[in-house]
Amino acid sequence: MYKDFISSHHTSTPRDYFQRMNSQKKICMETASQFEKDYWDGDRKFGYGGYTYDGRWSALAEKLVNEYKLTNDSKILDLGCGKAFILFEIQKILPKVSLVGRDISKHAISNVPKELVADLELIDLTNEGCLADFSEKQFDLTLSIMTLHNLELPDLESSLREIERISKNSFIAMESYRNWEELTNLQCWALTCKSFFSPREWEYLFEKTKFSGDYEFLYFT
Ligand SMILES: C[S@@+](CC[C@H](N)C(=O)[O-])C[C@H]1O[C@@H](n2cnc3c(N)ncnc32)[C@H](O)[C@@H]1O
Repeated sequence: MYKDFISSHHTSTPRDYFQRMNSQKKICMETASQFEKDYWDGDRKFGYGGYTYDGRWSALAEKLVNEYKLTNDSKILDLGCGKAFILFEIQKILPKVSLVGRDISKHAISNVPKELVADLELIDLTNEGCLADFSEKQFDLTLSIMTLHNLELPDLESSLREIERISKNSFIAMESYRNWEELTNLQCWALTCKSFFSPREWEYLFEKTKFSGDYEFLYFT
């Protein structure tokens, strides 16, 4: 089901779409796609431009806890957790909750908040079978926030099928576009996106992979 959890926060960030095209975008894309230090804590042209915790995910954590009726007994997985700020916010509300984070980035995984208690490991979602160790419906909630559009179609399909297999509930958020202007903005801005899909294409894919979780699209207006 479509959710409106993070769009308002996403649109509040200022972005100069066309400036990004002027700063050697191909090189920036190559660097960003390694998802290492430059992407997180380097110059803005490579990605976040310094991703330190500023409390931006506290509202989302509250919404997730309420929507999915999470408790201290819940098990939550975040695929593409990055610096695990969302897991950290959930832990603040539910200090005993069981948290699992997976990401391809060594830099992100080694720069999570010090107070976070979680099972964190590296994973590459393009490796077939990378989620095979998780059992059916192991997680009360699986999250994947702004990560899946970074995959190519075959990896996207297998990831969606796996998320469905291992989760009782899931919430995923991806970049998308509704019109030519948003597609132009997205194409100018995106450094690591590989799947530029409209909502219709995403929903087609959900049906094809039998993904029944919740989702949200982030637009570049
Ligand atoms: C836009 S960031 C989002 C991070 C985090 N979910 C957040 O919202 O703060 C995209 C994340 O996807 C991860 N990622 C990209 N490709 C991946 C892959 N093939 N396997 C696992 N993680 C990947 C990146 O390292 C990065 O943490």
